[in-house]
Amino acid sequence: MSASRTVLITGVTRGLGRAMAHRFAEQGHIVIGCGRSAEGIAQIRKELGSRHRFNVLDVSSDAQVKNWRNQVLEAYAPPDLLINNAAVVNRNAPLWKVPADEFSTLIDVNIKGVANVLRHFLPAMVARKSGVIVNFSSGWGRGTDAEVAPYCASKWAIEGLTQSLAKELPAGMAAIPLNPGIIDTDMLRTSFGDAAGSYPSAEEWAEVAVPFLLKLSPSDNGRPLTVPC
Ligand SMILES: NC(=O)c1ccc[n+]([C@@H]2O[C@H](COP(=O)([O-])OP(=O)(O)OC[C@H]3O[C@@H](n4cnc5c(N)ncnc54)[C@H](OP(=O)(O)O)[C@@H]3O)[C@@H](O)[C@H]2O)c1
Repeated sequence: MSASRTVLITGVTRGLGRAMAHRFAEQGHIVIGCGRSAEGIAQIRKELGSRHRFNVLDVSSDAQVKNWRNQVLEAYAPPDLLINNAAVVNRNAPLWKVPADEFSTLIDVNIKGVANVLRHFLPAMVARKSGVIVNFSSGWGRGTDAEVAPYCASKWAIEGLTQSLAKELPAGMAAIPLNPGIIDTDMLRTSFGDAAGSYPSAEEWAEVAVPFLLKLSPSDNGRPLTVPC
C-alpha cells in the first residue's frame, strides 16, 4: 500500500464519486467528500467511518464550499489529491428546448462549482507547493453529440479551465482534465437509458481508476488524460 494520502472528492453519494471514495478508503487513504443528498451522505458516513469526513453541501454555493473548507482544514491537512467529480447532465433535448433554469443550474454546478472548490482549497495547496487536482471532464469534453449541448459546453469549459490553471500552479503541483470513460451510473442512464447497462459498473471502473489516479504526478500537469479501459 502507498503512504496514506488525503483525497478530497466532490459528489460521493452516488456513481463514480461514491465508488472512488470506497476504493481510496479501502486502500488506507483519508477521504473527504460531499454531496447534496443528506441520505447519501449519512449512508457513506456509516459505511466508511469517522476517520473520513463527509458533508452535505452544494458545490454551486460559494458560501457553502467556503464553510466546508474552513471545517475541513481545521481537522485535516490540505488535500494531496483533489478530485472535482460532482456534475449534472441535462435531460436529452436539442439546445433550443433546454429551459433556461436547467441550463443555468448545469453551468452553476459543472463549471462554477469546480471554480468554487478550487477558489477555497487551492490556496492551502499552493502554499504547500504540492498536490494534484483532477477535474472530471468527459468524452463530451473533447467531442460532441446531439441533445447534450449544455453538458458538452460545460465539459469543454473544464478542459480549458484546467489547462489554464496548469499554467498558474507552482512547480510540484498538477492540474489534469480527466475523461473517466463510459460507466453505468445514474448520469449515464439519463443520457443513454437502459443501454447504459452494457457499460462497466462504477465499482469495476474504480478498480482501475483509483490506482491510475494515485500515480498522477506533477509531470502530468496540463495533460488531458483518460482512464484506461
Ligand atoms: N458516467 C459516465 O459514463 C461519465 C462519462 C464521462 C464523464 N463523467 C463525469 O464523471 C463525473 C461523475 O459522474 P457520475 O456518472 O458518477 O454521475 P452521477 O451518478 O450522476 O453522480 C454525480 C454525483 O455528483 C453529486 N452532485 C451533483 N451535483 C452536485 C452539487 N451541486 N453539489 C455536490 N454534489 C453534487 C451527486 O450527488 P447529490 O445528488 O447527492 O448531490 C452524485 O454524488 C461527472 O463529472 C461526470 O460528468 C461520467
